[in-house]
Amino acid sequence: MRESTVLVTGGGKGLGKAFTEALGRAGARVFITGRDGPSLDATVAELTGRGLLVEAMRADVVDSGAMADAVARITAASGRLDVLVNNAVAAGPLGPTAEVDLDAWWYAQQVNVAGPLVAAQAALKVMLPQGRGRIINLVSPAGITRWPNATAYSVSKAALIKLSENLATELRRTGIAVFSYNPGLVDAGLTRAGIDSVGTTTDPWLERVGRWARKARDAGEFVPLDTVVGTLVRLASGHADALSGQIVHAQDDLEARIAEREGATGC
Ligand SMILES: NC(=O)c1ccc[n+]([C@@H]2O[C@H](COP(=O)([O-])OP(=O)(O)OC[C@H]3O[C@@H](n4cnc5c(N)ncnc54)[C@H](OP(=O)(O)O)[C@@H]3O)[C@@H](O)[C@H]2O)c1
Repeated sequence: MRESTVLVTGGGKGLGKAFTEALGRAGARVFITGRDGPSLDATVAELTGRGLLVEAMRADVVDSGAMADAVARITAASGRLDVLVNNAVAAGPLGPTAEVDLDAWWYAQQVNVAGPLVAAQAALKVMLPQGRGRIINLVSPAGITRWPNATAYSVSKAALIKLSENLATELRRTGIAVFSYNPGLVDAGLTRAGIDSVGTTTDPWLERVGRWARKARDAGEFVPLDTVVGTLVRLASGHADALSGQIVHAQDDLEARIAEREGATGC
């Protein structure tokens, strides 16, 4: 990924930080955004201390002005933007959908659906004139299968899958690929936070989700972090552009999927 410039939203913590480190190790110049200035600064200090090219900007992903400014700063600094990783997330409220707090539910849609669109619109202002780019939208098993009592998160990720499909179709002759990237369940970020809350939280729904995640982890159902970041770097490097518009899982055999697609389309 030498010469490439990447923007990772929510890159200061959790999976976003792991993606930033892996992209940096692959040679990319990585810009990260988030709301929490001290944690962004700490991530930059840690990763630049290891010789990686990482810079941070505070920007809320739902704030179109802040995201446009962030992209303008990136292009002023590096003259290009090759990849956008839409990683930032709001976990949303847990509990029975019949009683869920509507404001909290809607906020999750804003961050998880409108946020990636805001970031994509800002990035496309650079990618379209460049005639190349990749947008990688982080989705989840929650957007593919039912996740009762977590509908804010589940519905937002299902919507993001449709946003990715539609955007990929609109952009198919522009040199820009768009993916839904499903890492599976990972022992990091919000899933790790849920597991760590078991026995300490007063929220019965968080306790329940945390226990469920711990059981899945102990049963070997999680995807190793190395696999999750490795496939993300391959997508960002252009190994799977033929799969634009599709959901890519971290454990997919990308070559087999591309061959299958080429067989189906005859090209
Ligand atoms: N962990 C898993 O097992 C798992 C599984 C499937 C999919 N995923 C997906 O992977 C992605 C990363 O998840 P994670 O587990 O790493 O989550 P996380 O640990 O909760 O991190 C969320 C990140 O999003 C940022 N963020 C939240 N609201 C924001 C906003 N309004 N504007 C800008 N940044 C914001 C946070 O930074 P600030 O606090 O600085 O804003 C933080 O860096 C998500 O899209 C998630 O759905 C994760």
